[in-house]
Parts: sequence; C-alpha cells; structure tokens
Amino acid sequence: MKITHILAAASAVGFLASTTAMAGPEAEVLHWWTSGGEAKSVAVLQQEFSDNGGTWTDMPVAGGGGDAAMTALRARVLSGNAPTAVQLKGPAIQEWYEEGVLADISDVAKAENWENLLPAAIAGHMKCEGTWCAAPVNVHRVDWIWANAKVLADNGISLPTTWDEFNAAADKLMAAGITPLAHGGQAWQDATVFEAVALGILGPDGFRKAFIDLDEATLTSDAMIAVFDQMRKMRGYVDGNFSGRDWNLATAMVMNGEAAFQIMGDWAKGEFMAAGKVPGKDFLCISTPGDGYLYNVDSFAMFAVKGDDKKAGQQLLAKLIMGKNFQKVFNLNKGSIPARTDVSLDEFDSCALLSSQDMATSNSNGSLLPSYAHGMALRGAQSGAITDVVTAHFNSDMSSADAVKMLVEAVKNSM
Ligand code: GAL
Repeated sequence: MKITHILAAASAVGFLASTTAMAGPEAEVLHWWTSGGEAKSVAVLQQEFSDNGGTWTDMPVAGGGGDAAMTALRARVLSGNAPTAVQLKGPAIQEWYEEGVLADISDVAKAENWENLLPAAIAGHMKCEGTWCAAPVNVHRVDWIWANAKVLADNGISLPTTWDEFNAAADKLMAAGITPLAHGGQAWQDATVFEAVALGILGPDGFRKAFIDLDEATLTSDAMIAVFDQMRKMRGYVDGNFSGRDWNLATAMVMNGEAAFQIMGDWAKGEFMAAGKVPGKDFLCISTPGDGYLYNVDSFAMFAVKGDDKKAGQQLLAKLIMGKNFQKVFNLNKGSIPARTDVSLDEFDSCALLSSQDMATSNSNGSLLPSYAHGMALRGAQSGAITDVVTAHFNSDMSSADAVKMLVEAVKNSM
C-alpha cells in the first residue's frame, strides 16, 4: 500500500475520531414550560447542560398542564422517533415504562446516591420495578390561593381560611366590582380548582378514598355533592372571558389587580417572581382551606434511543437534574421547592418555606397527597374521566347530584 494511501487512511480515522469526540452529549428535550417563569426555569437546565459540553435541542410544546405535550409525545413515539428526554410525571412514567420505551438511569441514581437524597414518596414515583426511570426536578404544591395584596387591603379582606370565608370575601369583591377569582377555562385548570375544593371539603382521608382508591361511596357521598355545590359558587366568581384563558394570563390578572385571587399551583409564584413582584408585599399566598398538601413532582424520563451521544446526553441530564446547585437555582425560578432534601432554603421566599414546612407536617400526619389534577394520583384514563365530569359541570348548569352520578359512571367506564 502506498504511503499516500496509509496517510489518507490515517487522516480519515483521525477525522472520524475527532468528529465523534467533538459531538459529545446531546439531547432533544420535550417539555411544556413556555410561560415567563417556566421558560426562565428550564433555561437553567439548558445552560447547565451546555456548560457541561452538552448540545440541547429544545422541543417546547405550549399548553399549560402538559396535555398538548403528551399528545406530541405519543405521536413521536408511535413514529419510532422518541425524544431523548421528556417531561413526564407520576403514573404516566409507569405507563410508558410498560410500553418498554424508557431507558434505565439506575447507574446515575446509584452513583449520585438519590435513594438517600429524596423523600420516599418522591423516590417511589421515579422507580419502575425497582430500577430508576425518571429524575425528579422539584416539588410543586397545588392547593394554593394567590392574592393581590393591595386589592385585599383596599377592600378590607383577609386571606380566607375556610370556604365560607372565601365565599364571603368573593361576594364582597363582586359588590365592589372586582373579579374575585382569576381563572383560565381549560379542563386542567377546572380540575386544579376542583381538587383544592375537594381536599378542603372531603378532608385528606376523603380525598384519598375518592381520587386514589376511586371509592364509590365517597364519590357519591353528600360531601362530594358539597364539593360540586362549592364549584358552582366558584363558577359565579370568575369573569366573563375566562373560557380558554391560559393559566399565566389569569396569574397576570391578579398581578395587575384585575382580580383578587387565583387558585393555582405554585408555578404561579414563578410568574410573580419573574415579574419582580415580592411575596408578602405585592402578592400573598395561603394554602386553600382545609388540611393536607397536594404535591406535583415534575420529572424527566429518558427514552430508549440509539446513539452513544444521546445516551451520554441522558446520563448527563439525569445527573444535572438532581444536582444540588440546579435543584436550588431552578426551583427559585420555578416557584417550587427542591426535590432533594439536602438543599438549603435560605434563599427561598416565605411561600416556599411555608410549602416546605407544610410538606413535612403533612408527610408526618398522613395528609401528603398526590395531585389528581396534575397526573400524580391516577393513570390517564381515570384522571381524564374525572376531569371530563368536572369541566362539564363547571361549564354548564349541571346539578351537583347529576355531576356525582356522572362522576361515578365515568370512573367505572374508564376501568
Ligand atoms: C404542571 C407542571 C408545572 C407547570 C404547570 C403549568 O403540570 O407540573 O410544572 O408547568 O403544569 O404548565
């Protein structure tokens, strides 16, 4: 073989090796964090990934709550082209695992000691038959009331601690020509308000029986009738343009004093913070009336994909997501609290501290509960069946008795 051929071959190998070495970890990441606060938060992960030599391909799917994102995911997986990493939560992780399309990230979890860094309730959601199949980002609390501090002060209203107090405050605000409840008329938002009302009226045990055990007696109880009665009142407290409104636009209504309250998870706090608003001064937070804590843990699952660079990207992402610094910086922006238990909350605000304290209390007294509305308590068929009834009731003059009948039938038919 002529030397020129050997040199040519050597340079070709060298080029391939350098090309391979240059590519490095890569990931196409599907998520639905597109609002101001959400985008600022996911940018933290994107930056850390690239700071560590990763190439991030963003696949944001707009639409709060993630329904549109999950539709896009199903299309991609069915076409045999799954994203590298996907924002995926709760039982949906198990559903995709059972399809055999998730990657095992146990080696990262073990190397990084995740078992000892996470509350058992959270670690449980991240495991599939004993292997680690998702990386947790945060703990959001769902059952919050957000309030415009000036609107309340100007109208002599205190933060409500019971639903009767909420109704009295709302009636007073209505009389003053102020929209009591900022709301976006999307099914997942109706479900968010519904589960907060249900937690307060059914209590933690009743909530668990209804939305985890799907207990027929609880689903058809007088207490469930009372939940729908309260939802009928809530419908009377929203403005005429609520239908289809995005959740963060409802948050903006509270921010600018167009409305007094919003009942929403603490991703809403991420919007207030992104707008430079100060908790305790510009806006107030209080858990919705009643005992208990509804948690919503965002996480990312890695899908089985080909290519060493993508696999390296998945390993790097998983490690960064549970990294101590990321868990602090991301959650300061997102409005949630870290999933990791060893992250100092010194830089977190009063609402985050209340969330952390209440989570610990709820964990110790058995009232720490998975959010049904945000896909933590039930699989898609069951949670969707409940939400269909809730949003049908909210957007009609359906009686509470009819709603309860529809609810138990819908749950039965979804099994
Ligand atoms: C939830 C998600 C939150 C937030 C919210 C609104 O399902 O867990 O992180 O994004 O939707 O989009």
